[in-house]
Amino acid sequence: MKTYYRTHNLGELRIADIGMKVTLSGWVDTKRDLGGLTFIDLRDREGKTQIIFHTDYTSSETVELAQKLRNEAVIRIEGIVRERENKNPNMPTGDIEIIAEKLEVLNNCDVLPFQISNEESLSENIRLRYRYLDLRRAQMARNLKMRHKMIMAIRSYMDERGFLDIDTPILTKSTPEGARDFLVPSRTNEGEFYALPQSPQLFKQLLMISGVEKYYQIAKCFRDEDLRADRQPEFTQLDIELSFVEQKDIMNEIEGLAKRVFETVTGEKADYDFPRMPYKEAMERYGSDKPDTRFGVELKDLTNLVKNCSFNGFRSVIEAGGVVKAVVAPGVAEQFSRKNLSDYEEYVKTYFGAKGMAWLKITPEGINSPIAKFFSGDELNEIVKATEAKIGDIIMIIADRAKVVYGALGAVRLRIGKELGLINNDEFRFLWVVDFPMFEYDEEEKRYKAQHHPFTSIKEEDMNLFLNGEMEEIRTNSYDLVLNGSEIGGGSIRIFNPEIQSKVFERLGFSTEEAREKFGFFVDAFKYGAPPHGGLAFGIDRWLMVMLKEQSIRDVIPFPKTNKGQCLMTEAPSKVDEKQLEELCLKSVDKK
Ligand code: AMO
Repeated sequence: MKTYYRTHNLGELRIADIGMKVTLSGWVDTKRDLGGLTFIDLRDREGKTQIIFHTDYTSSETVELAQKLRNEAVIRIEGIVRERENKNPNMPTGDIEIIAEKLEVLNNCDVLPFQISNEESLSENIRLRYRYLDLRRAQMARNLKMRHKMIMAIRSYMDERGFLDIDTPILTKSTPEGARDFLVPSRTNEGEFYALPQSPQLFKQLLMISGVEKYYQIAKCFRDEDLRADRQPEFTQLDIELSFVEQKDIMNEIEGLAKRVFETVTGEKADYDFPRMPYKEAMERYGSDKPDTRFGVELKDLTNLVKNCSFNGFRSVIEAGGVVKAVVAPGVAEQFSRKNLSDYEEYVKTYFGAKGMAWLKITPEGINSPIAKFFSGDELNEIVKATEAKIGDIIMIIADRAKVVYGALGAVRLRIGKELGLINNDEFRFLWVVDFPMFEYDEEEKRYKAQHHPFTSIKEEDMNLFLNGEMEEIRTNSYDLVLNGSEIGGGSIRIFNPEIQSKVFERLGFSTEEAREKFGFFVDAFKYGAPPHGGLAFGIDRWLMVMLKEQSIRDVIPFPKTNKGQCLMTEAPSKVDEKQLEELCLKSVDKK
């Protein structure tokens, strides 16, 4: 679009445009003064173009004005395109430059908190405080564009496949995704609260009962949970639900979508059927329900091998129903000191509640380990055989309750993979993890919870177990999509039989009244002809982060929150007037 401000954007002009009179506008990216000659790289969203100010072509006032320009000032110039003497092959516009005839300063720029074109790493707090400047940086501008492309690819795929885009309320009732709710007090209903949706789960299932058949939404979700590098309190889901389908139909549809989005964002193909791995196998082999399958270092079970050994540290754990498992760190027996190994041990103790980590170094002289004395030569050989360790390797062993062992060794495995450079960062690997358990015991609350959510249907083969009152080992018709060790999406086939649904609530410890109060409207709807249905939701931010190889989810969200849930730019959350609180019948109390 030609306007007063520009005839071309700043990534557009080429050798074929030589001699053309152009008008350009943008930000002063960099400036160099060489006596009567001033070079400016002018930048806009599409790129950079070199502008030259020289008294041969323009007035000395204009050259002086150009000399005084600060970085990030906004200017408009008129000039002629000329072939560049020193071409810059790294810039798409590097063959040409503009000889400026006129300069208009549209806006000046104050002293900057950081240089926009500086590639050096900046403190994240400064970046978030001045997010609007941070978003001018090339990397962030790329991420914004990629987010747009991703969403366009999603929308076109969903539209082609007959999905309707339907939005659902933000002020609503609590949804059961397992996190704490963000609450909004109601002024017009004294003492009552809305909850912001943790996901549109209930509404999308109700839309199936309404006969929508194929629904999708790019939905904001809100969860008050502990934040990490791949979690935000407010994030965006691609939420999907379909009727009259089985699990395999949904997975096929989603795989097609995942491939389209992946190709659009990364420019690479994912020309293979995504492998499917049961949850149990993922835990046993990788100690994780979202394994990074780009490298090996799998967990090996030693429980049977060491159950009669004389080392009490292992034997007592096994007698109490625990397990003993190991991973092998390849080729580091010489390189890893005792200090390195005690760092690993501290790590599993601090973050995963393990009681300790034993190790065996396999050296050309034999086995070197603080626990070697508790084992016979044969027993040690058996352990080496079972773990497939070679000379030069270190076997790391943890004995504990299965849950602790999986968590700790799964993390040790990832740390080994990263520290020893075993992960090919140019590779992307998708994986479906299926058949998650229905229930999971919560140690803190001392009760069973739904591992996904309470509307997940139980596998036909395990229905008898469930009806007989079992809580463990009940598998569901569920699936998570994992990319390079990140859970980018998850979903299930839902329960559509009201009696089974009531039974699940009962097993989760909801009294009939509680279930009614929380989900009564939902359970009622199922009495009026609910079709079989299922769906899935992707975490758009997390998925994009993995595809763009960013380390933090904040780098793909335009205006994210810190790990404390704050927006450093607007300073939200913030105190409010007493009057506002009064209107809402709220009073702030000092917790101390
Ligand atoms: P789930 O809770 O697994 O499923 O969420 C789906 C996907 O959303 C992403 N995600 C997050 N991303 C950023 N920050 C967070 N705090 C966060 N929490 C989750 C993850 C996850 O895989 N209603 C169900 C879906 C369904 O059953 O259809 C749900 O929300 O990538």
